[in-house]
Amino acid sequence: MVNNILNKVGNTPVVSLPIASEPNLNVFAKLEFYNPTGSVKDRAACYILNRLLNEGSITKNTTIIESSSGNFGVALSAYAKLKGLKFICVIDKTTLPVNEMLIRQQGAEVICISEPDEYGGYLLNRLKKVKEIVKATEDIYWINQYSNPLNARAYYNSLGNEICLEAPRQRLDYLFMGVSSGGTITGVSQKVKERFPESKIVAVDVEGSVIFSGKAHKRFIPGIGSSLRPSILDDAKIDDVVHVNEKETMQACRELLENHNLYAGGSSGSVFAGVKKYFEKNQAYTPVNIMCVFADKGERYISTIYNEEWCKMVKEYNAQNVGQETVLA
Ligand SMILES: Cc1ncc(COP(=O)(O)O)c(C=O)c1O
Repeated sequence: MVNNILNKVGNTPVVSLPIASEPNLNVFAKLEFYNPTGSVKDRAACYILNRLLNEGSITKNTTIIESSSGNFGVALSAYAKLKGLKFICVIDKTTLPVNEMLIRQQGAEVICISEPDEYGGYLLNRLKKVKEIVKATEDIYWINQYSNPLNARAYYNSLGNEICLEAPRQRLDYLFMGVSSGGTITGVSQKVKERFPESKIVAVDVEGSVIFSGKAHKRFIPGIGSSLRPSILDDAKIDDVVHVNEKETMQACRELLENHNLYAGGSSGSVFAGVKKYFEKNQAYTPVNIMCVFADKGERYISTIYNEEWCKMVKEYNAQNVGQETVLA
């Protein structure tokens, strides 16, 4: 028994996802949506705040600030409340109403950016606002998930460790993970490479993100991809990158529900689509163990990925605009 549900971070289930047409692919998914606030980000929020408090880098009087329009904002608002810390979350007008509601309900002060930046997206203006507030406020700590080494350390110690211990028959050939801030893949890849040096770490990114390469264009599915390359990734151990598009992500989400009874979030669909795409090019002639990280659940995407009208709009937009110069998300 735990004294608060938020203390039950990690030890999430692993499930097998057989693909009938690919008998050599032993695919497994680590279901991170079993974390208390519903995503992999609980690990970082819980670890970072505990560590900062324990080492005295912050006190109960410190204000915490972060730019996040999604799962990290939800997770930080919950753990900041648990620790009695004031939390300011800088979101933007594309933040899903359910995420904004959860962040507010858990006591955070929400600042919403509605002015697009020079690229037509909001990230740069969100970061500008954070810097302004940090400059004007005494005793404030900016989590800064894109470059704070504690973000990666959180995953090295918990998710990375669990994946190593749970690898079927203690063999791990491939690990597939979605990337946004880069914290998850940086920490997990470091741990997995220590235990399984021969394993391949495959990063899954979406078309329109500039993390690894390519041209920026508008993206609709949150949680994966970025319009900046996070510096935290300099310490990641990545062997390969696979890019998927939004249509492939939507199809994979439906397939996970239809064939595996998994109501998974967008980046989980991207990761599953990434596995299939990768092995279309790199045929597995002998059985391989593949672990995927499924970061969050489908509920938060009920009005987007699981809404037919929305999917149609995205497909039409991409068909007309992708390949041309468009705006950053
Ligand atoms: C749904 C989802 N998938 C994947 C990720 C990627 O994690 P990271 O930011 O550690 O790269 C995130 C991060 O917010 C997320 O919300």
